[in-house]
Amino acid sequence: EESKKVKLLEDSKLPKAIKSKIVNLTELRSERVRVFGWVHRIRDQKGIIFLVVRDGTGYLQVVLSGIPASTYEALTLNLEASVELVGTLQTVPEGKQAPGGHELVVDFWRVLGSSPGAEDAFSNRLNEKSDPSIQADLRHLVLRGETASAVLRLRSSLLSAFRDAMNAHSILEVTPPCLVQTQVEGGATLFTLDYYGQPAFLTQSSQLYLETCLPSLGDVFCVQESFRAENSHTRRHLSEFTHLEAELAFITFEDLMENIEDIICKTVDILLANPTSAALIKQLNPKFQPPARPFRRLSYVEAIVWLNEHGIKHPEEDAEGNPIKDATGQVKLVEHKVGDDIAEAAERQMTDIIGTPVFLHGFPAELKAFYMKKIPSAAGATTFTESCDLLMPNVGEIVGGSMRIADMEELLAAYKREGIDPEPYYWFTDQRKYGTCEHGGYGLGVERFLAWIADRYTVRECSLYPRWPGRATP
Ligand code: 4AD
Repeated sequence: EESKKVKLLEDSKLPKAIKSKIVNLTELRSERVRVFGWVHRIRDQKGIIFLVVRDGTGYLQVVLSGIPASTYEALTLNLEASVELVGTLQTVPEGKQAPGGHELVVDFWRVLGSSPGAEDAFSNRLNEKSDPSIQADLRHLVLRGETASAVLRLRSSLLSAFRDAMNAHSILEVTPPCLVQTQVEGGATLFTLDYYGQPAFLTQSSQLYLETCLPSLGDVFCVQESFRAENSHTRRHLSEFTHLEAELAFITFEDLMENIEDIICKTVDILLANPTSAALIKQLNPKFQPPARPFRRLSYVEAIVWLNEHGIKHPEEDAEGNPIKDATGQVKLVEHKVGDDIAEAAERQMTDIIGTPVFLHGFPAELKAFYMKKIPSAAGATTFTESCDLLMPNVGEIVGGSMRIADMEELLAAYKREGIDPEPYYWFTDQRKYGTCEHGGYGLGVERFLAWIADRYTVRECSLYPRWPGRATP
């Protein structure tokens, strides 16, 4: 009752407070400052209230004592309330630790938006023990946590570093459409929608559009959402992911792999050279080491041999791709042979044993998309493609790329073989008609790249609002 009477007013005789974000406070030591944020932690120590407040740019230790600690608002303050704080920024005493090395000694503060306590308290709705499905429903609250927000900050730095790396190669950014009427990576994973009475899809990859930019803008890249109706509930599949794609003209397959390696290593170097992103990597993945160059190369055929030498088998499948079980219900495991798809489990085992980035290259044409350039082969022999996947330890494939068919007749034959109606692809075919060139490109999944750098268990942690089968909320 007494405390309700204590009313705190801002003292107009004190020096004018400088409004600042937490990240910029270091230069304002010993000044009177005004900070806005959310209450991240509360600790009451014999009538002195210590808060940690965050504003998205950083964390700040706040000290409330005397009247500021005795108001009704102080005594009923809960986690996640939004607050305005005014006070003097003081270096923390020798031997004490606080974010930024300083603390705000408050002379005036108020609650802007209160937050409930008791049953509806933030920590009751969400905590480390919450079920994964509850965490998914409460993603909007999970984002307020230290780890989730650090991952997203690193994601921001990563996108910017990637753009810098592209810029250093004079590769230009473009923004292709998400609503399309052609497929790139096979009909099985298309999201179809009604587009003013016509069928249309959410894009699987911007590759075909990037190819059309080469004669106009030269080498190009994009950062665009891609969509896959994948029925895969794995650690590395999303229904919507951010796709970094690049397309390069007048190159060889070797040039392509070198470019992928260089862009990845430059991006990592830029992240490590920047104190903010380097600190985030250290926080999330203390053991991270930039990969050694050149990356190991392993042809598809060599990989099949490697898997067999290391006893890594795969379930034998029937014509529909379902695992064959023996009389006792056990899945039958068989050796890999040329022509088999190297499935996620085998690929993961292989990358984890090798322990460094690996370029797998030269996949059989039947396993790959229609547009890939084929390596000439003898009649009757397996046809391989100039294609590559970059595999990273703990994550597996993070990049898929290839050289593209440059010849028009060959492309027309490829549509036919895949049962694709060439009509909607007229604009893609035209690239071969008007001044074709040898070209190639790749796509990198941002969430997978981030899962690798930040050592996250799943790509779901690396997306702001991840989508997977059955999940499009929040
Ligand atoms: O290997 P993908 O399917 O290749 C393409 O889409 C090419 N058209 C790209 C190109 O050449 N421009 O996909 C490329 C990368 C994968 O290596 C992976 O990192 C990511 O995109 N990716 C996914 N990430 C999360 N969830 C999914 N469902 C993904 N599918 C692909």
